[in-house]
Amino acid sequence: MNDITPPVVRPRRLRTTPALRRMVSETSLEARQLVWPVFVGEGLTEPRPISSMPGVVQHTRDTLRRAAAEAAGLGLGGIMIYGIPEHKDAVGSGAVDPDGILNRAIADVVAEVGDALPVMGDLCLDEFTDHGHCGVLSADGRVDNDATLAVYAEMARAMAAAGVDLVGPSGMMDGQVRVVREALDGAGHTDVAVLAYSAKYASAFYGPFREAVDSSLVGDRRTYQQDSGNAREGVREALLDVAEGADIVMVKPALAYLDVLRRVRDAVDVPVAAYNISGEYAMVEAAAARGWIDRDAAILETLLSIRRAGADVVLTYWAAEVAPRL
Ligand code: PBG
Repeated sequence: MNDITPPVVRPRRLRTTPALRRMVSETSLEARQLVWPVFVGEGLTEPRPISSMPGVVQHTRDTLRRAAAEAAGLGLGGIMIYGIPEHKDAVGSGAVDPDGILNRAIADVVAEVGDALPVMGDLCLDEFTDHGHCGVLSADGRVDNDATLAVYAEMARAMAAAGVDLVGPSGMMDGQVRVVREALDGAGHTDVAVLAYSAKYASAFYGPFREAVDSSLVGDRRTYQQDSGNAREGVREALLDVAEGADIVMVKPALAYLDVLRRVRDAVDVPVAAYNISGEYAMVEAAAARGWIDRDAAILETLLSIRRAGADVVLTYWAAEVAPRL
């Protein structure tokens, strides 16, 4: 004992009490930083549970309105709407239809919350196509980048006409941000912002989302979403999107890509978002349901890690649940 020289530097001093720890905390988690992704199903008369995402549902138009009012009351950063149409087809017609489920839901929510809550919508075709891809296909069955851009432009105009505040192009087509920006500006919607899903990786962790949107995808999205091993390329995608006019860039998924998130945060000067996706949600819920981890603590630690890695904004299915605890 006596031959041990006591440490002079003692980092533990600042951990002695909760108040001290609070004073020196480096990372905050606030309701305003959280965006709530929500699903709305066309023709539903009551909310439909999503089995792989316990606690998450496909809303009816009515329950979605109530969820949006709740989100506004909680002071959340925003709500991100995913529409699931009753009928899907090869070109995703429901996406550009002013009466399509997404556009109607956007109008409903905007009517409900006004300016109190930023309203965002997923600008992508995968929820609307019968083949489940994020774009339209060419004759040989490949995802046709430039033909898809034309549909995205039309979809952006329809979403803006419905009143959306931010569109979230998530299809990983080259040039999508520029085309969407030009389409919005050309139609006079210069105030509608673009939250670009910039560094989006082909991920196994999207599994539960595919159930959530009744996806009929066969195969994978590897010709447009990025390879897991590529971090530099994620930064490149984010820089391109900023150059094309993105107001916010996003990294997705979050947890398996926290290094990419940090690199993107350091590389751009716009706000950076990260998407705490369906599989990340499901893993925590599944382990917690078995009593293997402390659910509430795991949720907060998860969200804090994403903030610490550099996200200004975090999309999370736990947004409404967590906000009152912050
Ligand atoms: C595509 C889209 C996906 C998600 C959000 N937007 C699915 C995909 O790219 O396959 C996944 C979100 C999640 O898993 O929570 N429109």
